[in-house]
Amino acid sequence: MHELKMNAELIDKLNGKTARIGIVGLGYVGLPLMLRYCEVGYKVIGFDIDQTKVDALKAGNSYIEHISASSINDAIKRGFEPTTDFSRAREVDALILCVPTPLNKYREPDLSFVLNTTESLLPYLHPEMVLSLESTTYPGTTEEELKPRIEKCGLTVGRDIFLVFSPEREDPGNPNFTTRSIPKVCGGCTPRCLEAGIALYRQVIDRVVPVSSTQAAELTKLLENIHRSVNIGLVNEMKMVADRMGIDIHEVIRAAATKPFGFVPYYPGPGIGGHCIPIDPFYLTWKAREYGMHTRFIELAGEINSSMPDYVVSKLSLALNQRNKSINGSSVLVLGIAYKKNVDDVRESPSVLLMERLRDLGAKMAYSDPHVPSFPKMRAHWFDLSSVAITADSLKQFDCVLLATDHDKFDYELIGAQAPLLVDCRGKFLKPAENIVRA
Ligand SMILES: NC(=O)c1ccc[n+]([C@@H]2O[C@H](COP(=O)([O-])OP(=O)(O)OC[C@H]3O[C@@H](n4cnc5c(N)ncnc54)[C@H](O)[C@@H]3O)[C@@H](O)[C@H]2O)c1
Repeated sequence: MHELKMNAELIDKLNGKTARIGIVGLGYVGLPLMLRYCEVGYKVIGFDIDQTKVDALKAGNSYIEHISASSINDAIKRGFEPTTDFSRAREVDALILCVPTPLNKYREPDLSFVLNTTESLLPYLHPEMVLSLESTTYPGTTEEELKPRIEKCGLTVGRDIFLVFSPEREDPGNPNFTTRSIPKVCGGCTPRCLEAGIALYRQVIDRVVPVSSTQAAELTKLLENIHRSVNIGLVNEMKMVADRMGIDIHEVIRAAATKPFGFVPYYPGPGIGGHCIPIDPFYLTWKAREYGMHTRFIELAGEINSSMPDYVVSKLSLALNQRNKSINGSSVLVLGIAYKKNVDDVRESPSVLLMERLRDLGAKMAYSDPHVPSFPKMRAHWFDLSSVAITADSLKQFDCVLLATDHDKFDYELIGAQAPLLVDCRGKFLKPAENIVRA
């Protein structure tokens, strides 16, 4: 009886938007979610361990290109408080965890961010609270890692505190969808947890999709990303075969995409990047081993996709060779170092791998990216470079221009006309020309 009342009070607060929301991890996922909660009238406390980010947000600045400073300022006016003080988790009715879930150097899941953040929050958890994990992870994480830690503090999940997994589906840079309009999957540890989870998201997301368990929700996110990885792997393989046969893969994809059913177009590229597609599938690979299972599709797609930078380098090398040049000593301009078009995110970007491979082979490297003015701080990569402005004169100075990421802001007509040699990894230049090579 007591537990029913508790759940009902929490749900009333969530429905009435008087609940205070805590968002942990103010990154590409946490920030848009915070904006949405503030927009509909909730008060939000944002937690992050990065003091610089918290200071920037407090001052009303955004550090992500597609999130405007004015939206952060509006949120602050509506009561958004960014902080590094985790003891303020006491004040909130809901905690949503959006911290990174990378791979370690053995390409195994690195849950340290999720576990560290959970440990920091444990002293401040209280009854009548809902906790949602959004970070992409393997099936079982919420139940096996979060639930026992929470219960060790004397709170029973499903009775005192409500625990759900609800994966993020953010697609940065895509103007067709917003946090509100992307349906949100949610699975709870118990039916009462699910009820609290639905109440948590119902006011901010147009459609909440309940599933029967946290494991089902965790696997749903992995299936979505594995589906992408495998299909990109397939189309990358098709690209190499088509190229050998002298067929333009982009023409073929465009033609196949006219089929009104049963075909979804995917596009080849220089490899896969970003926080999700190169990483998430291997969370399942790791967990599947516990069950004696091998995830062969995931491994094969990973193998093909990660061989793409080498394929591009070999195409570039052949093209220079035909012009009596070698990579060693040539100057190469890479266009686009973000991992996908129209964003400023360089995490796991294949462009950066290409730059490193070419530099190691002796090329003099430069890059141009309208979204990344100077080469950012990355854990494992470094170039002391700033973005080169593209003009007819600057293009002519390079032995080779390599189109790695096809931002809309590039002037393709100018590039196609002025680059002495243009290696196109994105199928932007479909008309055959002397100076253009596809890779
Ligand atoms: N970026 C995307 O498009 C996207 C899409 C879907 C899912 N995801 C998933 O969402 C999760 C978050 O990704 P992201 O892109 O927002 O990452 P991010 O790196 O942009 O943001 C994570 C934030 O968490 C903070 N942080 C790190 N450790 C912390 C801790 N212990 N306590 C509090 N804050 C901490 C970091 O300082 C950073 O600001 C990942 O699991 C990712 O796979 C990301």
